[in-house]
Amino acid sequence: MRESRTRLLCVTGLVLLALYIGRNHVQNKKEIPHQAYLMYGQANPDEKVRETSLTNVRANNSNTSELRDIYKVRRDRVTTVCTEPRYKYRGQKAQGNGRKNILIDRPQRLAYCPIQKSASTFWKRVYRIVVGQSKATSPFDPSVPALKKFDSIALMSDNQADDFVDKSLSFMFVREPYGRLFSGYVDKLFSPNVMFWRNIGAFGISIFRKNPSSVDLRCGHDLTFSEFVKTVLYSDKHNIKRNGHFTPQYEHCDPCHYNYDVIGTLETLSEDTFYLLDRMGKTNLKKSLEIDFRGQSLNDTIRDQVNMLFAFHKGYRDCKVSFFEAQQRMWKKFQIRGVISKNSKYPIRQDQSERLTKETLTALIYQGMGDAVDKNVAKKNKHDALIEAFSTVDKKDMDSLSKLFGPDCELFGYDCRPSKLFDINTPITPWFFDINIA
Ligand SMILES: *[C@@H]1O[C@H](CO)[C@@H](O)[C@H](O)[C@H]1NC(C)=O
Ligand SMILES: *[C@@H]1O[C@H](CO)[C@@H](O)[C@H](O)[C@H]1NC(C)=O
Ligand SMILES: *[C@@H]1O[C@H](CO)[C@@H](O)[C@H](O)[C@H]1NC(C)=O
Repeated sequence: MRESRTRLLCVTGLVLLALYIGRNHVQNKKEIPHQAYLMYGQANPDEKVRETSLTNVRANNSNTSELRDIYKVRRDRVTTVCTEPRYKYRGQKAQGNGRKNILIDRPQRLAYCPIQKSASTFWKRVYRIVVGQSKATSPFDPSVPALKKFDSIALMSDNQADDFVDKSLSFMFVREPYGRLFSGYVDKLFSPNVMFWRNIGAFGISIFRKNPSSVDLRCGHDLTFSEFVKTVLYSDKHNIKRNGHFTPQYEHCDPCHYNYDVIGTLETLSEDTFYLLDRMGKTNLKKSLEIDFRGQSLNDTIRDQVNMLFAFHKGYRDCKVSFFEAQQRMWKKFQIRGVISKNSKYPIRQDQSERLTKETLTALIYQGMGDAVDKNVAKKNKHDALIEAFSTVDKKDMDSLSKLFGPDCELFGYDCRPSKLFDINTPITPWFFDINIA
């Protein structure tokens, strides 16, 4: 009982913290020449090198010495991109931004730079155990505190910080930028998340929706994905309400300044995590994760999301969103993420919805998994949901996104104009994002 309450507080706290950081981020950015990325030039002609290296990560994931080579390939790419004269501004742009973010452990000489929406919640929990702040044996143990602070390089002088990171095992995790943006939308705006609705949703609606209602303007609960993309682009252009969950990844960790030893990716999360835990000598922790990484992570997500749904209960009412609609959104979110089958209709009726308990909902989610238990079905559903969302985005906004993401694509080896997203010609009729067919 106490544990679950603590957890609720943690989830709510995390969101608060995220908003807080997001706001600070805006302030910190004031001195920095804002649209520096517009100076950013043509795509790297060396497309093939990047593609090959990412493929190899998967192919060679079981061999540590080959893995080391992968990290070298990733490091070298960052170094090359950063040292090209036309990219020089990047280091300057990010200067001061990445510094505060780097979480350190002095005794073990570790330096981790978290990026929101790129496995940061997961890795902070791992790190909590690694640095000895939690005695748990698995990061998925609900007792691992989410909010407690870590030691960081914030209070060090520039030289001390540089020296510390240089002599530490330093690492960060990145992810494919379009997938990250999509995940940010699903997690913060589409799903019942009253704080982000009010902060980002209402802001986007006030700018991009014709004749919004007063509730829309106050609560922003139904920002569409195409409106969301416009909002992110607008925020970036005007340097207003930029939020760390949606801002480019290179801004977070200053990779042109700090030469991270290991750049992990969400696409290779388990391999990269195991590799890092090996390097840190955390054999037991690694073993606990190896048991069933996907299964544990799924269980954790379900627990987390169900808690969040209930934590915001009162907020929905203030926004004139029924608890039933919040539940439908949550159900859809699990379908979008490939957890619940597309064939499972939400089994609760509106007149039953107010009495729903966490236990019942959790059980229903497990029962609803159906064919999505199959990894390939889950993958296809996630893919289809992504395509559905991007099919609604204006072509010129897609072009703007590719510019916004340019540095991330170059530095971390992602395709900035993936044909699966850029070659869609007509908007796809919503299924995943239509809550009325939940
Ligand atoms: C791992 O890769 C290295 C370099 O390619 C090779 O020499 C070694 O035999 C491989 N080890 C295993 C266990 O496959
Ligand atoms: C990964 O393995 C493939 C063959 O499976 C090989 O061609 C490639 O060179 C390896 N990559 C690295 C970086 O060792
Ligand atoms: C996930 O939760 C289900 C239901 O409680 C349980 O049967 C399963 O063993 C759990 N899986 C893992 C990997 O913990």
